Amino acid sequence: MSSPSLYTDLSHYYDELCSNIDYREQYAFILRLNAMLGNRGMRYLDLACGSGSLLKHFSDEGFACSGLDLSADMLDIAALRCPTAKWIQADMSDWTLAEPVDLITCFLYSTHYCPSIAAMEQTFAQVFAALAPGGLFCFDSVDKDCIANDAGHFHTLSTPASELRFQTRWHYPGQGDVMNLHLHIRETREQESFHYEESHAMTATKITALKRLLESAGFEVLILEHDFNRFAEWQGTNGNVIFCATRAQH
Ligand SMILES: C[S@@+](CC[C@H](N)C(=O)[O-])C[C@H]1O[C@@H](n2cnc3c(N)ncnc32)[C@H](O)[C@@H]1O
Repeated sequence: MSSPSLYTDLSHYYDELCSNIDYREQYAFILRLNAMLGNRGMRYLDLACGSGSLLKHFSDEGFACSGLDLSADMLDIAALRCPTAKWIQADMSDWTLAEPVDLITCFLYSTHYCPSIAAMEQTFAQVFAALAPGGLFCFDSVDKDCIANDAGHFHTLSTPASELRFQTRWHYPGQGDVMNLHLHIRETREQESFHYEESHAMTATKITALKRLLESAGFEVLILEHDFNRFAEWQGTNGNVIFCATRAQH
């Protein structure tokens, strides 16, 4: 039997896993960035939207929202959260839109889910084609040479029924384009503990190489430090950044 997958069998845990993420802060940052870059359009797509927590803020603000995700289970949760949005179940490297959009995001390091550099290139080409002139593509990413290969992040949550402990860690073997995301969930109900383990292969990249890929797709690229409280241009040292890729007006 195959092991359970977070984005299908364990999707009901996803919101708990992300309960320490401040989606409102992310949303406010993206909105300020969008305004700073003079992008006024209100058509929005979240790539790898998960359970729709970021998208919900844009929907509440009046954006016409679409969410794309590979997992039907994640989209089912997202649709309950944002009933007015449109949903696309697809691989992020293989989709098209009938109408262009003004803003596309892909946060929580989700571009790394592309299975290869070639798929990432294809994703950037799709995003470029889907954006209206002046549109913005914004996402976060880590540099493969800055992955700590440590115990990662721990997060615990008490609910009336159980206590949940999540551990997420990345491992990069030091060469090549593949890194691994390991997830461990421990749920304690009354006296019993249940354990779920899952690993995903993800594509590992260099920040500088990603910039070149985006430029080859036609984007103008600005790289910022990963800080949702300010705009600070990347100084070339930290391995955790936010890419702002713009499709020029002309
Ligand atoms: C870490 S979650 C991030 C979800 C959301 N962006 C957030 O911030 O909560 C990664 C998401 O990517 C989706 N995903 C994984 N591979 C994908 C692919 N090739 N194309 C589209 N979505 C994918 C998963 O189903 C999952 O919902």
